[in-house]
Amino acid sequence: MAAGGWVCFLTGLLSLASAVDHNHNGEADTYHVSVGHLFLLKCQLADAHSEIMWSRGDSGNESLPTGVEVRDGLLWFRPVQITHTGSYICEKRNETTSSKRRFRVLVSRKDCPDPNEDISVIKRVRDGLRCKQTEIFRLNLTRKIRWMKDCQPVQLDEESIYLNVDGFMRLPAVSERDAGKYTCLIDITVDGQNYTTARSIQLTVKNGAPEVFPELHVMSPLNDVVIVQVGKRAELQCLAYTGFSEDAEIFMYWTINGTYASDYTGLKESWTFIHDRGKVYGQSNLSISIVRHEFLNVPINCHISSPVEEKLGKAWLQEADHSVFYMNVAICLSAPITLLLLTAFFFICKVDLILAYRKLTTTFSKQQVADGKLYDAYVSVGQSAMLSLDGVACFALQILPEELEQKHGYYLYIRGRDDCPGEAVHDVITAAVHQCRRLIIILSSHGKTKETVQPWGNQSQLLYEQKVGLHDALMHNDPKVILVEVDGPVDYSQLPESLSYIKRTQGALEWKNSFVKTNNPTQLYLKRNFWKNLRCNMPALSARRLQSIT
Ligand SMILES: *[C@@H]1O[C@H](CO)[C@@H](O)[C@H](O)[C@H]1NC(C)=O
Ligand SMILES: *[C@@H]1O[C@H](CO)[C@@H](O)[C@H](O)[C@H]1NC(C)=O
Ligand SMILES: *[C@@H]1O[C@H](CO)[C@@H](O)[C@H](O)[C@H]1NC(C)=O
Ligand SMILES: *[C@@H]1O[C@H](CO)[C@@H](O)[C@H](O)[C@H]1NC(C)=O
Ligand SMILES: *[C@@H]1O[C@H](CO)[C@@H](O)[C@H](O)[C@H]1NC(C)=O
Ligand SMILES: *[C@@H]1O[C@H](CO)[C@@H](O)[C@H](O)[C@H]1NC(C)=O
Repeated sequence: MAAGGWVCFLTGLLSLASAVDHNHNGEADTYHVSVGHLFLLKCQLADAHSEIMWSRGDSGNESLPTGVEVRDGLLWFRPVQITHTGSYICEKRNETTSSKRRFRVLVSRKDCPDPNEDISVIKRVRDGLRCKQTEIFRLNLTRKIRWMKDCQPVQLDEESIYLNVDGFMRLPAVSERDAGKYTCLIDITVDGQNYTTARSIQLTVKNGAPEVFPELHVMSPLNDVVIVQVGKRAELQCLAYTGFSEDAEIFMYWTINGTYASDYTGLKESWTFIHDRGKVYGQSNLSISIVRHEFLNVPINCHISSPVEEKLGKAWLQEADHSVFYMNVAICLSAPITLLLLTAFFFICKVDLILAYRKLTTTFSKQQVADGKLYDAYVSVGQSAMLSLDGVACFALQILPEELEQKHGYYLYIRGRDDCPGEAVHDVITAAVHQCRRLIIILSSHGKTKETVQPWGNQSQLLYEQKVGLHDALMHNDPKVILVEVDGPVDYSQLPESLSYIKRTQGALEWKNSFVKTNNPTQLYLKRNFWKNLRCNMPALSARRLQSIT
């Protein structure tokens, strides 16, 4: 109820703002008043720096009638008499100019004056009426506000009708029987004398289309669990579909366990419309500078409200508890933040999962996959790099076999080690490549790969085995190609398109020769990751070969 009231109060203000005085048309503004009431007339020209003169406008006599006086620039009718009907002029003067404005006052003997304003609302839309006796409210005197409908007291005991201190009356979703003349009456004591003031509004109910407001739809959060730490920052984001245009009557806000987020210190909310492919969404952020215990495990709702409906998204904060963390991650797939966490978690652990899975399956499977191949990988490095024994050659001839062959039992065919000098005959190379399950191409930043093609003397920048292997890899996905960049970065624009294609689609592993003798934790971590990733890209070993090395 409180939430609804607030919502309606705001939406009511917004919707009424567009319905302010229709009679501002350059002609006289007309006021309907009743005999015996107090009436205060304000000159809209008035400002702090100019003097206002009031005069009677229609009879030949410009003096104000008895019972009408000027007080603080306002024209006071205390009380209204039947003879006060007529027009009144206020004039604002400064040294150079003067401007005038005319008002018409129509006095009747009715208890509830005729309406000064017509308001039409759309059926089924929640709305409200403003008392609009601004001058009376500004007096800061104690007052009692009543509303009458067709001069009968409005029953305020209905939960749906709400009256706030400025006389704003909220109406439930409007139906035809709500149409009528509404009068806001204020009982007030001025200088020890009791007065009543009154102002009427005509309410008409239109059979219009409430579907001008599209159906709101919260996209996220949807019962999301967000992992937080008490005492730390947290940020929640809400996204809701709001239709095809920005509607001034739509707004968003947050509650925590039923209390407005704006009632807590240290919480900040903001919202805005965002456009995406012709659709409009409301995006709202709740920023919690310090997560308190009371925020945990209570519903945190993101509300989006239009005059016709209110939708909400729900999120829960939970403290990071590692025993339930994985479960939560699984539960709250829809939360973007947790999705991100999950993705990161998955990528970090994917390699370990694969390696662990392989260990399990190879330990328990007696059957070796017989593809008839002799080698696990063909290692291809440029010839000149081999001869120069630089970092690339050192990696290919020493570091790589130590790890893969000696530690893990892979069989490698390393160009420059396993071929005999002068054996670079095309059919021998082709046969060797076809005996390998993987083709490891080692690239370096120094353009060595480019240089190394020179001994073959053809226009291609690829070694022959690379050509064969890449062709087979791209055509048949066998052998699989593993790119290793040594002391990168590698300039792929200098390399054949097939290599940059592989780099783009599957990436490359990065090796630094500084890994060899490092104690730096980051480097150690990267080194460990490199080997894990490489083994992950290598074929699974058979159980027999695994046992032979462990
Ligand atoms: C003008 O009206 C005032 C008040 O109604 C009255 O006192 C005054 O005598 C009138 N003057 C003339 C010239 O009629
Ligand atoms: C007098 O009023 C006119 C219109 O309100 C304004 O443009 C002008 O600047 C004013 N002059 C002085 C001296 O205040
Ligand atoms: C009425 O009260 C408000 C705040 O309480 C104050 O700002 C304002 O000046 C007061 N108005 C008058 C006419 O005393
Ligand atoms: C004004 O109204 C109050 C109650 O609303 C009442 O107690 C008081 O006697 C009235 N004063 C006069 C002068 O009628
Ligand atoms: C909400 O947060 C996101 C990400 O921090 C930001 O891009 C966006 O502008 C924020 N929106 C609002 C309305 O503050
Ligand atoms: C949440 O609201 C419920 C109902 O108002 C109340 O019983 C409960 O104590 C509140 N929880 C917290 C943590 O404030």
